[in-house]
Amino acid sequence: MKKNTKLYETVATLMASGKGILAADESDATAGKRLAMVHLPNEPENRQDFREILFGAPDIEEYLSGVIMYDSSIRNSCDDGTPFPDLLISKGIVPGIKVDLGTVDIQGFKGEVVSQGLDQLAERFAEYYDLGARFAKWRAVITIDEDELPTDAAITMNCIMLARYAQIAQAAGIVPMVEPEVIYAGDHTLAKAEMVTTRTLQILFHTLQTYKVDLGGLILKSSMVLAGDMNSEVSTPEQVANSTLRTFHLSVPHEVGGVVFLSGGQTPKRATQNLNAIASLGEQPWSLTFSFSRAIEEPVLLAWQGRSEKVEEAQKVLLHVCQMNSLATQGNYDDAVDTILK
Ligand code: 13P
Repeated sequence: MKKNTKLYETVATLMASGKGILAADESDATAGKRLAMVHLPNEPENRQDFREILFGAPDIEEYLSGVIMYDSSIRNSCDDGTPFPDLLISKGIVPGIKVDLGTVDIQGFKGEVVSQGLDQLAERFAEYYDLGARFAKWRAVITIDEDELPTDAAITMNCIMLARYAQIAQAAGIVPMVEPEVIYAGDHTLAKAEMVTTRTLQILFHTLQTYKVDLGGLILKSSMVLAGDMNSEVSTPEQVANSTLRTFHLSVPHEVGGVVFLSGGQTPKRATQNLNAIASLGEQPWSLTFSFSRAIEEPVLLAWQGRSEKVEEAQKVLLHVCQMNSLATQGNYDDAVDTILK
C-alpha cells in the first residue's frame, strides 16, 4: 500500500520531543461536569472562556504539540473572532478532533459498551480537515470486572470499530489516534489490569494489521497500567512503569508512530509521577508522551474559578502543569520540589 508521507509529518510534529497533547475534547455535557467543580453553570460562554484560557495561554506551544477538540469547540472562536483551530495553528500546535459519538450498550453483554460514529465519518473528516484538523481521536471503553469482564467479544467489536475509523481517517489525510481506554475505576488488581490491557492491545494491533492500517501513521492512546482506584493496594510509580512497559512490549508493534497516555482519573500529580517513572526506564521503541485531559485541566479550572481577574494566574498554572509533564517525558520531573501539582 502507498504510504502517505503527510501522515508521517503530522505524527512527527505531534510526537516532538518534550511536548505532549492536551485533550480538551470533552462533550458539552462532560464540560459541564468540569465546570461544576468550580460551581460554574454549563453555559456556552463558560465553555468558550475556559477553552480560550487553555488555547490562548502564552508560550503553551513550548510544551504542547497538539490539542484535541470536540465538534462544538473546533467550530468555536476566541472573543476577537479568531477561530480556535486558527489560533492553535498560529502557535504551531496541531488541531485534533474527537470523532466517536460516545458509547452504547452491547446487547447480551451486560456492562459492556461499544463506541459509535462510523456513519458519514468520511464526510465529517472532510469538513474537519477544512477546519484545520490533522489528527483525530476515537475512544473505546474497556471495563474490568473481576472475573467476567471484559469479554473478548466486546474487545474485538471495539477494535473493529477502531480499525475502520483509522482506515477512514488515514484516507482523509488525518492521523488516527486510537484509544482503547481500560477503565481505572474499580477494585481490580494491578495484575488484572496488566492482563486486560495486554489482551486489549494485542487484539487491537492484530485487528489494525488485518485491516491494513498504516501503523506508522497512527498514534496509540493508552491507559497506564495500574490497580483499580478501589483496590486496597495503590500501585507505586515503579510498578506502574514496569507493568505498562511490559504490556507494551508484548503488544505494540515497533512501527507505531507514537504512544500517548490518558490520565484516567488519577490526580494530576500521580499522573505526572507515573509518566516520569515510565520515562525513567529509558529509551523505548516508541516515543511516549502525555495526552491528558483531567490531569491538565483541573488545576487550571481551580485557579480560574470563572473569575476574569484570575485568567493570567490560571494560564500560569497551565504552563506549569504542561512544563512538569514535559519534564516527566524525559524522566526529569522532581515531585519533591513541585508544590503546585496535587
Ligand atoms: P483523561 O486524561 O481525563 O483520562 O482524558 C483523556 C482522554 O482523552 C479520555 O478520552
